[in-house]
Amino acid sequence: MAKLIVAIASNRVIGKNNDLIWHLPADMKFFTETTKNNIVVMGRKNWNSIPDKYRPLPHRLNVVVSRDPEFSDEGCVVFGSVEDAIEAYKMDDRETYVIGGGQIYAYALKHNLVDEMLITTIHQDFDGDTFFPDFNEDNWEKQLLMSHPIDERNPHAFDVWRYTKK
Ligand SMILES: NC(=O)c1ccc[n+]([C@@H]2O[C@H](COP(=O)([O-])OP(=O)(O)OC[C@H]3O[C@@H](n4cnc5c(N)ncnc54)[C@H](OP(=O)(O)O)[C@@H]3O)[C@@H](O)[C@H]2O)c1
Repeated sequence: MAKLIVAIASNRVIGKNNDLIWHLPADMKFFTETTKNNIVVMGRKNWNSIPDKYRPLPHRLNVVVSRDPEFSDEGCVVFGSVEDAIEAYKMDDRETYVIGGGQIYAYALKHNLVDEMLITTIHQDFDGDTFFPDFNEDNWEKQLLMSHPIDERNPHAFDVWRYTKK
């Protein structure tokens, strides 16, 4: 089983115009440290949204899913389905993290492909066009890992939660 990592606004927004909306270095640090030396599975749009200087995400195996059999890019491995991408590395010592975007999160949740979610909840609504899907909280144990206040580098307060499938 894979894990999932995401940052969500209070109104469930996760992105706008194929980009991230907020700048929260403390949450980005958590994301980087968590996924470092592991495998990250992402949708083709998420891959395209990563600025050139950070793509591929360093020190991680970058796995992209696309329905386009012609799609390939430097620095990533491509699969035609989320299942195939996760299945390919199930014997690997590294963790596999589903890192979005919206379509890939929705697919992974709907098809029960993840048993742990690391969810950053930002204490604010944002205007956006991509959302994290609704899921049934009753099926998950929830543990608070970190609360981060507003500070000089992080303009929004946030919490980081670990959800573990019951
Ligand atoms: N806040 C966060 O934590 C976070 C994290 C990640 C991303 N984001 C944001 O999310 C947005 C991007 O999300 P998105 O929903 O637009 O796109 P996405 O999920 O990143 O990528 C969608 C693409 O993935 C491929 N795809 C989707 N479902 C598939 C399936 N079942 N099998 C095979 N391939 C599949 C298709 O690629 P083809 O068109 O090539 O077939 C599709 O166009 C951006 O705004 C980004 O900044 C936010």
